[in-house]
Amino acid sequence: MTDSTSNIDYKNLGFNYVKTKCFVMYKWSDGKWDLGKLYDDTNINIHIMSGIFHYGQSLFEGLKAFRSKNDDILVCNSNASAERMQFGCHRILIPEVSTKMFNNAIDKTLLNNLEFFPPYDSEGCMYIRPFIFASGVKLGLGPSTEFTFIVLVNPVGKYYNRKIKCKVIENYDRSAPLGVGNIKMGGNYAADMLPSIESKKGGYDIALYLDAKEHRYIEEFSTSNFVAIDKDGCYVTPKSNSILKGNTNSLLRMLAKDRGIKVKVREIDFNEIKTFQEICACGTAVVLSPIKSITRGNETYDVPEFNILKSLKNDLLQIQKGDKKDKYNIIRCLPTTSVI
Ligand code: COI
Repeated sequence: MTDSTSNIDYKNLGFNYVKTKCFVMYKWSDGKWDLGKLYDDTNINIHIMSGIFHYGQSLFEGLKAFRSKNDDILVCNSNASAERMQFGCHRILIPEVSTKMFNNAIDKTLLNNLEFFPPYDSEGCMYIRPFIFASGVKLGLGPSTEFTFIVLVNPVGKYYNRKIKCKVIENYDRSAPLGVGNIKMGGNYAADMLPSIESKKGGYDIALYLDAKEHRYIEEFSTSNFVAIDKDGCYVTPKSNSILKGNTNSLLRMLAKDRGIKVKVREIDFNEIKTFQEICACGTAVVLSPIKSITRGNETYDVPEFNILKSLKNDLLQIQKGDKKDKYNIIRCLPTTSVI
């Protein structure tokens, strides 16, 4: 933990907490959001009867900003992130944050923490963590009367620093078919902690969940979406109502189509796994992290390659860093001369 830039080794960041200069916080009460303010004290005052503590009414997001060769700040895909949070807000009765407010909050936080921004040539970037939660006081079950929306930024490097070994989870489910697995609720990640820690004890880096009804179809990894290249060279990723809509996954599908790679979003029977040439964990934090092997029970499948997905990962990184034209309009370039 640090709040001094001089201690930061930008070339070896990993995915760890770094205290930056400030964050932005907005409050919702009487039916509207306030104008938000910057704070530097990371301890905030919350009532012990707040809905977040008892009924788990909260959502978070993850997105990234990059420094270009000319030192511009490039924010990647923030509109999609705002929309995903809005979708979650509807499901668990949190007042929506408009895309404009979401983007303003991000820009304000980034521009006021520029001294913590990893340089262009460091392989690092700025991870942006917006989150929203019930901060109103209520004992009975029901939506809160006050909410808090915060955006903080944290310089990061790689989430996984090697090819990952995966374990299929058999004795726990991540989410129910009509549950909340399709929104970015903190509780979904809490549900994964025990299965993940148990598989880590067995030497595995990541857990893979199957559908809760039949334990037959692939759903997603603990941290991220599942993507693969099948025997015909197609990009495949699961279709399911109980997994998170992956924003990185959506971008990669566009890039795949551009390279003439066929994209299939469909149910994936676990038995097909042995026909996949490449498998990756895909998400904002993990980007595209290659899976080395997948173990279910006593059987292990060694994934042979990381070629097509590697080239898609490079395409994405080049766009994110401003080295390749952004024809999809996913990047917002911030003028670093004016601090807002
Ligand atoms: C992200 O990829 O941004 C996430 O929120 C996943 C989390 C496990 C780090």
